[in-house]
Amino acid sequence: MENNNKIYTILLVDDEEGIRNVLDITLTHAGFKVLLASDGDAGFAAFKTQKPDIVITDIKMPGIGGIELLKQIKQVSPDTEVIMITGHGDMDLAVKSLQYEAADFITKPIDSTELELAVRKAVDRMSINHRIKAYTDDLEGLIREKDKKIDESQSLATIGQTVAGMSHVIKNIAGGLKGSSFILEQGIQNENREYLVKGWEMMKGNIDKITNLSLDLLNYAKTSRLQLKRINPNYPARELTTFLNSRAVEKNIKFVLSPLDEKLSVMVDCDAIYNAIFNLVTNAFDAFDIDGENKGGRADKEVMICVEKEPGWIVYRVSDNGNGMDKNISQSLFKEFITTKGAYGTGFGLMTTKKIIDEHNGLIVFKTKKGEGSVFTIKIPLQLPRGKKG
Ligand SMILES: Nc1ncnc2c1ncn2[C@@H]1O[C@H](COP(=O)(O)OP(=O)(O)OP(=O)(O)O)[C@@H](O)[C@H]1O
Ligand SMILES: [Mg+2]
Repeated sequence: MENNNKIYTILLVDDEEGIRNVLDITLTHAGFKVLLASDGDAGFAAFKTQKPDIVITDIKMPGIGGIELLKQIKQVSPDTEVIMITGHGDMDLAVKSLQYEAADFITKPIDSTELELAVRKAVDRMSINHRIKAYTDDLEGLIREKDKKIDESQSLATIGQTVAGMSHVIKNIAGGLKGSSFILEQGIQNENREYLVKGWEMMKGNIDKITNLSLDLLNYAKTSRLQLKRINPNYPARELTTFLNSRAVEKNIKFVLSPLDEKLSVMVDCDAIYNAIFNLVTNAFDAFDIDGENKGGRADKEVMICVEKEPGWIVYRVSDNGNGMDKNISQSLFKEFITTKGAYGTGFGLMTTKKIIDEHNGLIVFKTKKGEGSVFTIKIPLQLPRGKKG
């Protein structure tokens, strides 16, 4: 299929020869270049060498199955659209595939209209993403040229990047909603209460997520209106510890607060600082999860908030002995919407935290070591931020 004169390539991975042949004919007829693979290993090898735009894979295959293939593809190429072919009884696998950001599902027996529709939607999404990227690149070029108007242009580029990041977050939520409605549909068709309950739980999770996202967005978009008040710096950390304690118990994490042992007050927006630390602590809690799930892991899980004083600064330090981060993630943490939590995260947390700290004229830094844990440090100046009023 051509869109902006580009012929899109689809890699089709299925162990059944009959399905490969039929889909090959249908998709070639629809104008796509089709590559075929008969199992997950061959599929991944073809993916790496041929770099197709879209992958359609059977969810259940001998050897490495569709989920593993999806996971491997997303690791090397997060933007590739992967469509899963599911059969009756593959519901648990379908749910799992959402976690790794499958773009869509088609059910067996495959209806050619449904197939074409899923592929066309994938093409549309890709072309929108390309356009956003081109727009962002253009803006960056513009900034280089226009020295005089640099401030204005930079803020435009930030908008471009934000839009690109947002489209990813919204795509995740849309994928989650799509997956839950698929499971609900299967539940209704098969009169299966278990699917209905599962689908509804997922639907509720996604509704919560979009609600939170819109609130985050509103907060993020708000130009700085700090409600500065003089407070004891231990206060937001104490509030947060009380609020999150039960979550820590549930996740089997030793959660410790080491408050500042000195009477002192600092001029901050208390709610904003609470939110900034909240994001760090929830990330620390998630740092023990494997593949987005709390699966036990190490026995001595610990998350600690320390409130300290350094000359001229108040310091909040959140440390965990969780999984740590890969270099590629840690390099762009505060610049982009990065999440490794699949459908469970938006990548908005640290961006918001950074914005709050910037508004306080503060600093945020972190250290992380894969397999050993991470430490995030926030520093807030003890003096009233210049130019900011309460
Ligand atoms: N303490 C930590 N340990 C390990 N990884 C971390 C830690 N903090 C952040 N990360 C990584 O940084 C990514 C971005 O974090 P961020 O808070 O911005 O988004 P998120 O937690 O994925 O989603 P959200 O906060 O919107 O629910 C996380 O997905 C995770 O991979
Ligand atoms: Mg987070």
